[in-house]
Amino acid sequence: MELSLKSGDLATRKTPCLLLGVIGERQLPAPAQRVDAASGGYLTRILARGDLEAEAGRTLLLHEVPGLKAERVLLVSLGPQDKYDRKAYLKALAAASGRLQEIRVKEALSTLPASAPASLDFALALRDAVTTALDKGYRYDRTKSEKKPPLALQALHFWLGGEERKAQAREALGQGRALATGVSLAKELGNLPGNLCTPAYLADQARDLAKSFPALKVEVLEEEDMAKLGMGALLSVSRGSRQPAKLIVMNYGGGKKDAKPLVLVGKGLTFDAGGISLKPGPDMDQMKFDMCGAASVLGALRAALELKLPLNLIGVIPASENLPDGAANKPGDIVTSLSGQTIEILNTDAEGRLILCDALTYCERFEPAAVIDIATLTGACAIALGKVASGLFTADEALAADLLAAGERANDRAWRLPLWDDYQPLLDSNFADMANVGPREGGAISGACFLSRYAKKFPWAHLDIAGTAWLTGKEKGGTGRPVPLLVEFLLQRAGVAGRA
Ligand code: BES
Ligand code: MN
Ligand code: ZN
Repeated sequence: MELSLKSGDLATRKTPCLLLGVIGERQLPAPAQRVDAASGGYLTRILARGDLEAEAGRTLLLHEVPGLKAERVLLVSLGPQDKYDRKAYLKALAAASGRLQEIRVKEALSTLPASAPASLDFALALRDAVTTALDKGYRYDRTKSEKKPPLALQALHFWLGGEERKAQAREALGQGRALATGVSLAKELGNLPGNLCTPAYLADQARDLAKSFPALKVEVLEEEDMAKLGMGALLSVSRGSRQPAKLIVMNYGGGKKDAKPLVLVGKGLTFDAGGISLKPGPDMDQMKFDMCGAASVLGALRAALELKLPLNLIGVIPASENLPDGAANKPGDIVTSLSGQTIEILNTDAEGRLILCDALTYCERFEPAAVIDIATLTGACAIALGKVASGLFTADEALAADLLAAGERANDRAWRLPLWDDYQPLLDSNFADMANVGPREGGAISGACFLSRYAKKFPWAHLDIAGTAWLTGKEKGGTGRPVPLLVEFLLQRAGVAGRA
């Protein structure tokens, strides 16, 4: 989709569809006021009839409005004045995109970012408008025999409402586009079934990314490489599967030569049946989404590459299946991790931490500025926080503040849970240095505690996305989260984003 910025008089702009926000039942923000004046009060008269309810997201399509060059005007309710916040604005954006799709216009001019709530800076308002519009264009049809028709909308223009905003606005358009591309990549990988999206497929995705962006260097460690290193925890998981595990390492040196890299580590369980501790049948299909952490690393990297962020960034994806098999881990088995620490595997379904711990130890070689792992780690986290917030665990106050702020700004929130030492004894084992599970209570925290034992040599944070990475029911599918949070975090670290 073509995205561009326009300025000048709204009355004389030719467009198949002009989008105008309305506050309350008939309150007109500046762009709508100008159009109302040009049309001789037409909008005011129509709205006086009460046809547009003051509820964010209601729309009213008008044709041949007098005094305008626009063929249509789409009025979009922003909701009541006293409730006009970013949430209402996002709702209005989504509804407007939906309506544009219904009427199948090829081109439209939106003034909604120029009517964003005062609490939202223009750049962010524009980014929201871009990502909402592009998100509408995402449709999963890879494994459907009938392909869905592409979005009719080919060009979306945004009215600036002030030339002085142009440079900032241009940047926001680029960020919005890159972010949406990253999100749709993460969604698509999540949605692909486990028989197609295997560890080898994820490795190919990384290689494809490097082909599109030569600044990215990709190395894929095979099982024999991992065996030589001593990744006994990771390999114990893939031993129960016919798909060989991969450790995908992606390196982008966009920053200063001597700047320490940021490292993103994504759990890439392309299917998690639980292993010998087999999961119950109902909803087991959803465990194809157990690689959404990996997908978010690929999505965030893609956005960073597209934006040429001045950062040194490394993505690490341990990828495997977790299946029951004669060679699979058995409850009670003890393995030795790359760190040398031994692990008693009390539950083979707690496999994410087994592949992540070796990946985290592997990260030591990069002398990272920070490592963030992203994982659909525990059902307990989804129970605690539902589908609204990702769980954030870190002992690093600055990193916590930055990640929480990034999530807030990106509308992709995380909520911090404790990582106090008081929880560490939950992992005590009589036979090894630690067990791979604690009791049911506090399951998300003991999972994070386990990982913390492998992240002592660098600043580290863990995002548990078990609740947020995908939706169920009618909307079943990957959400692309937490790509927005990660990209915002990277933008802030690169110093190229507006301040919250
Ligand atoms: N991938 C699952 C976590 C999960 C479950 C995410 C349901 C989303 C929805 C993970 O590998 C797992 O099975 N975790 C266990 C840990 C337990 C054995 C300590 C869990 O959550 O039950
Ligand atoms: Mn599991
Ligand atoms: Zn899992």
